Amino acid sequence: MTVVLQASHLMKQYPGVKALDDVDFSLNSGEVRALLGKNGAGKSTLVKILSGAVTPDQGSIAVDGREVTIKSPQDSFAQGISTVYQEMSLVPGLTVAENILLGRWPLSKRFGVSFIARKEIVQQAAEALSQLEVDIDLNQLASRLNVAQQQLVEIAKAISFDPRVMILDEPSSALPSEEVDTLHRVVRRLAEQGRAIIYVTHRLQEIPKVADSVTVLRDGRTIGTIPVQEATPERITQMMIGSDWKRTEWQRDAELGPVRLSVRNLNSKGLLRDVSLELRGGEVLGLAGLLGSGRTELLRAIFGLDPIDSGEILVDGTPQLKPNPISMKATGIGLTPEDRKKQGLVLVFPVEDNLTLASLHRVSSMGVLNPGKEKVLAETMVDNLAIKTARLDVKTRTLSGGNQQKVVIGNWLNTLPQVLMMDEPTRGIDIQAKEQIFALVRDLARQGLAVLFVSSEIEEVLDVADRILVMNQGRITHSRQHDEVDLEQLMALVMEEYTE
Ligand SMILES: Nc1ncnc2c1ncn2[C@@H]1O[C@H](COP(=O)(O)OP(=O)(O)OP(=O)(O)O)[C@@H](O)[C@H]1O
Ligand SMILES: [Mg+2]
Repeated sequence: MTVVLQASHLMKQYPGVKALDDVDFSLNSGEVRALLGKNGAGKSTLVKILSGAVTPDQGSIAVDGREVTIKSPQDSFAQGISTVYQEMSLVPGLTVAENILLGRWPLSKRFGVSFIARKEIVQQAAEALSQLEVDIDLNQLASRLNVAQQQLVEIAKAISFDPRVMILDEPSSALPSEEVDTLHRVVRRLAEQGRAIIYVTHRLQEIPKVADSVTVLRDGRTIGTIPVQEATPERITQMMIGSDWKRTEWQRDAELGPVRLSVRNLNSKGLLRDVSLELRGGEVLGLAGLLGSGRTELLRAIFGLDPIDSGEILVDGTPQLKPNPISMKATGIGLTPEDRKKQGLVLVFPVEDNLTLASLHRVSSMGVLNPGKEKVLAETMVDNLAIKTARLDVKTRTLSGGNQQKVVIGNWLNTLPQVLMMDEPTRGIDIQAKEQIFALVRDLARQGLAVLFVSSEIEEVLDVADRILVMNQGRITHSRQHDEVDLEQLMALVMEEYTE
């Protein structure tokens, strides 16, 4: 084994926080290294330094034993390092193929003039995507992709560089289990070809499937690197969190309240087909399904973000004739969206504003904002969700990915909804924070909140939901109480071949 990449004594200080504090990191060829740590531990900062997006205050990087200067993404590419960032970065107005080959569009010359060779763009992009075994229309605009598809395109793009070192910052957080399996195969194959891979994740269960070794960061420091055989969930959790960890216990409540939300025979453009469901106060209802099964579409249709062709939506028994986000919010329904960057947050706003965006009525009186009230509401949520931020007035953009996600959730919890729909709420959230959020959700459910909840992590659906609906090709195909199925059975229901 040869050391491909060696970073020494990396330091990065931001106002009020040491993102990296004297970090050493070394990686061998053919090795897949899982990089772990709580939200805000410094993982993405390390990734961004290696990929040239961030310059360290101190420290050095060597490739193949030679010290190199990485001051820009171009420098990093030049060393054969290719990165998939945690936050998606596709250009919405370009096609999938154009995005995959961005900056490297092949040209063809005719009559002495260079033209962009569209056919070749599509061909080369198709090659990269085919490794991931997914079916995405290459001529489609990137703006039309859902988060999982965006993620797959980003990965295809990184692969297309034929890198020696590939860095993947939470590549699986937006992917349903089937796609995650494929991703693991691709990563293992790349490693067998002698490439070195850094794989950031919060899903402990994928570590034995994909990694050779594990490095844990905490508060900007390296806690240790261990071989995968020693990386039991207990050991890793211990390393990530330190000794101060207590499991947050919660209980399911048997008592359910009246029906808050009912959906009857909802149809929409072939994406939703004859969907009916009822959700009661105090109930946490999980939606399980594969990529494209219609889970996000269902939440969006209920919230009035997408038009419906037929069917009825009732809130507390009252039909909602023309549901739109404003009217739905007024009836006490909230939606934490799947794509936090596009729909959930104003990244240049301070954290406190983003925590109260959806609940202006609570922090203002007669149209005048009361900054004192805003602050109290924001502070309480920062405490409840353990949001790691230097101050309340820093720009939300400066928070780590998982902490931004907590802000999206906090914003909607602050509206005191009666029904909260959550689309992939735990995307990028560390295991400890996840438990805190679930405990909070369960607590609110005990007080009568109804929750409709989508997660690509089936374990999580099983863990937190009282009842689970399985979706397949826009239909609800199964309904189970949480104690009626185990993980394997639920997986089978989700994966089931479905024909009409
Ligand atoms: N541009 C920035 N300005 C100010 N602070 C920053 C900036 N980027 C990161 N930080 C801070 O540095 C710390 C480490 O953040 P980083 O994004 O590396 O965490 P992470 O381990 O990737 O977390 P997550 O699991 O949530 O993605 C955090 O406290 C974060 O708020
Ligand atoms: Mg990160």
